[in-house]
Amino acid sequence: TLTSSPDAPRTRAAQSARSTKLAVIGAGAVGSSVAYAAMLRGSARTIALYDLKTDKVRAEVLDLAHGSPLASGTRIIGGDDISCVAGADVVVITAGAAQQPGQTRLDLAGVNVGILRSLLPQLLEQAPDAVYVLVTNPCDVLTVAAQQIVRAYDPAFPDGRILSSGTVLDTSRLRNLLSWMTGVDARSIHATIVGEHGDSEFGLWSSANIGQVPLADWADENGERPFDLDRLHALEQEVAGAAYEVIRGKGATNLAIGVAAARIVEAILRDERAVLPVSTPLTDYHGVSGVAMSVPSVVGRHGVERTLDVPMDERELAAFARSADALRAVQESLGL
Ligand code: 2OP
Repeated sequence: TLTSSPDAPRTRAAQSARSTKLAVIGAGAVGSSVAYAAMLRGSARTIALYDLKTDKVRAEVLDLAHGSPLASGTRIIGGDDISCVAGADVVVITAGAAQQPGQTRLDLAGVNVGILRSLLPQLLEQAPDAVYVLVTNPCDVLTVAAQQIVRAYDPAFPDGRILSSGTVLDTSRLRNLLSWMTGVDARSIHATIVGEHGDSEFGLWSSANIGQVPLADWADENGERPFDLDRLHALEQEVAGAAYEVIRGKGATNLAIGVAAARIVEAILRDERAVLPVSTPLTDYHGVSGVAMSVPSVVGRHGVERTLDVPMDERELAAFARSADALRAVQESLGL
């Protein structure tokens, strides 16, 4: 097909104009924030919030619905009956145990895989054609588990329809830091965190740029180049530690992940084909197979349409392999 074909945009517009439904699973701090961000942004026409906790989910649905007429007018439904998610186009899963101060994301793996095993078959019954976005941690490990569970249910389920928010949030944290340091709008900063959404994640510095200027060449107003390797390493540490800092202060991270998930939902429902560092199971990506990790990926109506083959230098290749090893160890301990 021709990229300049006048039919292409019409098809896209027609698709996004049809009624869209987002289901959010889990009405805790994260699930409610995903629904709230999606409602404010008008990411979907209908949002269904599901949780087993009857009073909690009813209260969150009411609280959201009370604000909707003043925002996008999104129809808000939900409750403790899973049939509320029926026919969803996108299902965002936030249900599960949350990280406590002192815990890493990987500490949550066993219990949250168990929750996924009971939840996913019920969701597939209600929303067999949806794109599934895993937000529950450890999100990369849960993506592999979800793929295995779904395959047992439907062997033909396409790979790209199971993904995780991965390092979309971490990348936003990095762009925010770089914006503070340089005084440039974060949206003009093209720098990405890839790998595990967790302690082994790292920055793709070799291809990062600020408004076309390679990061290494970026100079401040005095001509100083701030981004040497030590500085970049410190930035990586700061991004990887960001969630711990927020959890220490307020018990959970919820607002930014809410926006990150809403952004991914929009890329899917509007068939944007936006490049986002979401996580999907990889097959021979820079030599890595059998784990799900974040890499720049084209996200559209079918979920991950493709992963981009981003060049990596030696340091990045080594960090990517280390991230894969960390995830593989957890998967093996769980028999995944
Ligand atoms: C976050 O990065 C805890 O994964 C969650 O905010």
